[in-house]
Amino acid sequence: MTREVRFGTGKGAIFPHQKAGMLLNSLRRFVHSAPKLADRLELTPDALLLEIGPGPGYFSIEFARRVPRGRHVLFDIQSEMLAMARSRQGTAGVTPSPAVQGDALRLPFADASFDAAVLVAVLGEIPGPGDCLQEVRRVLRPGGLLCVSETRGDPDRIRYDELRRLAEGAGFVADAGHPGRGWSYTAKFRAPG
Ligand SMILES: C[S@@+](CC[C@H](N)C(=O)[O-])C[C@H]1O[C@@H](n2cnc3c(N)ncnc32)[C@H](O)[C@@H]1O
Repeated sequence: MTREVRFGTGKGAIFPHQKAGMLLNSLRRFVHSAPKLADRLELTPDALLLEIGPGPGYFSIEFARRVPRGRHVLFDIQSEMLAMARSRQGTAGVTPSPAVQGDALRLPFADASFDAAVLVAVLGEIPGPGDCLQEVRRVLRPGGLLCVSETRGDPDRIRYDELRRLAEGAGFVADAGHPGRGWSYTAKFRAPG
């Protein structure tokens, strides 16, 4: 990693692995249900799914279960988060997903190598979220799905209007359906096919 990174729970900082337990609070399911989010990804059993910024893997057990014949790849800037996500998967009886450590501004994957990419509460921690979305578009196959979920109260939250502007600037097309109102939203976009 060549850029300077800042860790903390404030705006623009990377959420530190030492506080990962906060992301695993059981009350979170009322705001962010892992099965519901997985449903929105429209995954087929053989899908290739990239989860960027999984943290300690709150969603990763469910995501891995949905692609038994495909591939779920964990990608995070903090190797400690990747280790936690894989350990939680193992404890839940799920084969740990392959994990890659790196910066989402430069994804170490070939063009068009995934069917879907999901980012939950991640984009606002990345300086240049539009550049990140360009990278995501590059690694998605034509027609591939980008799914971004954000929660109210998160200091790094990106509002839907801003997200849509960034995603369209990166060449994505907004998918049909409203992203939702309330404590969290999930917006979907398609890579041009
Ligand atoms: C607030 S946590 C969210 C974790 C998880 N998605 C969830 O909702 O529980 C943000 C995660 O994004 C990761 N992250 C932040 N910036 C990143 C970057 N540039 N590249 C890859 N991962 C990044 C952090 O390390 C952290 O694990």
